[in-house]
Amino acid sequence: IHGDTADLLELALEAARLAGGMLTVDRPADLGVAATKSSPTDVVTEMDTRAEKLIVEFLRARRPHDGFLGEEGAGEAGESGVRWVIDPIDGTVNYLYGLPGWCVSIAAEDEHGGIVGVVEVPTFGETFHAVRGGGAFRNGAPIRAAAPVPLDRALVATGFGYTAERRTRQAAVVAELLPGIRDIRRFGSAAADLCAVACGWVNAYYERGLNPWDLAAGAVIASEAGAEVAQIRAEDDGSNVVVAAAATLHGELVAVLERLGA
Ligand code: IPD
Repeated sequence: IHGDTADLLELALEAARLAGGMLTVDRPADLGVAATKSSPTDVVTEMDTRAEKLIVEFLRARRPHDGFLGEEGAGEAGESGVRWVIDPIDGTVNYLYGLPGWCVSIAAEDEHGGIVGVVEVPTFGETFHAVRGGGAFRNGAPIRAAAPVPLDRALVATGFGYTAERRTRQAAVVAELLPGIRDIRRFGSAAADLCAVACGWVNAYYERGLNPWDLAAGAVIASEAGAEVAQIRAEDDGSNVVVAAAATLHGELVAVLERLGA
């Protein structure tokens, strides 16, 4: 790993660890919804905002010229050519309910895409990280995506967006897909889903309508673990479907999702 990349990785790991610790220790017993975004189901808690602030302040103090894009509003162009893409809590609904599996997701990007991705899952004691061209790791040990299996033997993770319209369509696609696969998993965090592909806990993951911060770190981790990660079926609203899986299964799943109009 080059000096600058090593620096980015170290900072991302440290920021994710700090935010994950704060979110665990300071989670109020009576945590409520502070605001809603795209729909009443798209919730923000005071802790999302606090964690993003902590991460951005930590990184900005050490790299004042970088850009920022965060789920809770951080947005700065920067002039260094490096931009941090941050989801302070991916899986906010899990966090709100006290369910495990929410993550802190931090990526550093340049003009070619993701350089570094870190996904911290405090409730599982898991830290995933990857560096472009340098492989993917779970708690420091190298990981690989599962070898491809035929679609009818694939355990497939997915997620649902927040608007009723999108969910109606996503439910229709699942209804068609489910009889032809091993089973569906819905963990509640896109970052965790991509890490699950990266270490072979599921065979594949797909979802329409993710935001850049849901995807940035997990995509580096899944592709460095040997999975194919692609965005397909772009639509006028700017949404597309992210599909992650080992190569031959990836092709099979893409073909089915295209046929189903996912
Ligand atoms: C959400 C989670 C969820 C996915 C949604 C995302 P958030 O992110 O990743 O699994 O299905 O599409 O918006 O809102 O918890 O950061």
